[in-house]
Amino acid sequence: MCHDPGEATHYNIKNCNACHYPHYPTEMEFGEINVSACLSCHPAQGKEMEANPSEHAGLNCTECHTVHREWNNCADCHTPHAEEMTHADCLACHKPHSPKAVNYADGIPNNYCACCHENVGNALASSKKAHAEMSCIECHESEHMAVTQCDGCHDADLHGTTMHERYPLCLDCHNNPHALAE
Ligand code: HEC
Ligand code: HEC
Ligand code: HEC
Ligand code: HEC
Ligand code: HEC
Ligand code: HEC
Ligand code: HEC
Ligand code: HEC
Ligand code: HEC
Repeated sequence: MCHDPGEATHYNIKNCNACHYPHYPTEMEFGEINVSACLSCHPAQGKEMEANPSEHAGLNCTECHTVHREWNNCADCHTPHAEEMTHADCLACHKPHSPKAVNYADGIPNNYCACCHENVGNALASSKKAHAEMSCIECHESEHMAVTQCDGCHDADLHGTTMHERYPLCLDCHNNPHALAE
């Protein structure tokens, strides 16, 4: 009578007193609330999960949001790739509602890549050439598996046109971007 269904999507859910007690309506067992109630007020997160299918889409919102307006740490359920990774670090690469798309924020340290790419990490760290001073994400920018080619930073004509026409592949002479020929 007071909360007209025409007024808010939330007032369209049935069975109001399954969640609200009439005399103290804001005290709720959050853990027992289902996804449809959350989505009646937060449709954007539902759309994001639907557009980016992942194992998280199969979880109830309340498994991560046990208290309204708060969230659990990623490490409550997962083992970090590297021991020193914090919850904020996880969010620098993964979004909680679409965790499979890995996009890098600025400042990801090399050991956060090298924990999975050990060989590359070691090769770069032990190289005596200038690339060893660089961070992974300068050449592998913004999204996982992206690669900036040599001519993204170096003049593709730097040794002269004739030479590059005869030997078109930089790595034939320079060996490997992570371990440049000495
Ligand atoms: C499945 C659980 C659930 C059901 C069913 C439910 N609600 Fe809610 N309701 C919530 C949650 C969660 C909140 C947010 C509480 C908070 O802000 O801490 C909320 C908040 C509210 C609020 C205060 C905030 C606002 O924006 O309106 C009102 C009023 C409300 N509900 C009315 C209703 C009515 C009326 C019904 C039935 C038509 C209903 N609720 C059914 C879970 C539910
Ligand atoms: C009746 C509407 C209503 C319902 C139902 C509701 N919420 Fe909310 N929720 C809100 C409002 C309003 C805010 C405060 C938004 C703001 O500060 O911009 C909020 C805030 C949040 C935040 C924090 C947002 C931030 O930016 O800090 C989270 C997380 C959240 N809700 C999760 C949930 C989950 C999970 C459920 C279901 C179990 C739920 N909410 C049910 C209205 C609702
Ligand atoms: C309440 C437990 C829980 C929390 C908290 C949680 N996850 Fe998950 N996550 C799961 C489960 C369950 C799966 C599916 C099984 C698995 O891969 O371990 C999963 C899967 C994933 C996947 C693989 C997705 C796929 O579809 O293959 C990624 C990536 C992920 N989680 C990242 C995170 C990040 C980042 C956080 C913090 C923002 C986080 N998780 C918080 C339970 C959780
Ligand atoms: C795997 C854990 C997990 C699940 C499942 C999950 N969330 Fe979240 N959610 C988070 C984390 C962590 C944050 C904080 C993100 C940040 O700080 O950038 C968050 C943030 C939010 C916010 C704040 C705004 C935003 O998008 O950052 C809302 C609202 C929200 N979640 C609602 C929901 C709803 C509704 C569901 C279910 C459809 C849901 N969440 C399922 C972990 C989860
Ligand atoms: C530097 C970026 C980066 C950071 C930081 C990061 N991840 Fe990941 N994560 C990835 C990549 C890339 C994959 C995908 C690997 C693949 O394709 O198998 C992944 C995959 C996952 C998976 C899927 C299963 C697996 O292990 O392959 C889970 C779960 C996960 N991450 C959780 C986390 C958690 C929790 C944190 C924080 C403690 C975190 N990630 C921090 C990049 C990152
Ligand atoms: C959780 C482990 C994990 C983390 C963290 C991770 N990767 Fe990966 N990465 C993988 C896996 C597994 C593959 C192979 C995927 C495939 O071949 O399908 C891969 C593939 C790649 C590739 C493409 C390889 C090719 O053959 O084309 C690049 C480039 C790459 N990663 C760079 C990075 C960078 C840079 C970072 C840090 C910002 C990073 N990765 C963090 C697991 C990870
Ligand atoms: C100077 C630029 C540069 C830097 C710095 C760099 N990479 Fe690469 N990386 C490349 C290029 C270019 C390729 C593609 C090589 C090819 O096509 O053969 C590549 C390929 C890869 C591959 C796939 C092939 C392989 O060798 O396994 C992985 C994984 C990778 N890089 C990870 C990393 C990680 C992790 C770091 C930091 C520790 C890093 N890269 C730093 C330029 C760079
Ligand atoms: C994101 C930018 C970037 C990319 C991509 C990149 N480089 Fe470099 N490279 C640099 C920087 C910065 C230096 C150090 C300053 C300079 O010599 O310009 C450098 C130096 C070098 C040097 C001289 C090394 C030394 O110690 O004197 C060689 C050779 C080289 N790069 C080859 C390559 C090749 C081959 C590729 C492709 C596989 C490549 N670079 C990709 C940025 C890049
Ligand atoms: C036929 C072999 C060969 C090819 C192909 C080649 N280089 Fe070189 N490059 C060299 C040699 C030899 C040097 C000088 C090595 C030194 O000084 O240690 C050099 C030096 C460089 C340097 C550092 C010196 C400078 O002039 O700044 C860069 C950067 C470089 N090459 C980039 C590239 C790039 C990018 C490509 C592909 C477009 C490429 N090279 C292709 C042989 C080659």
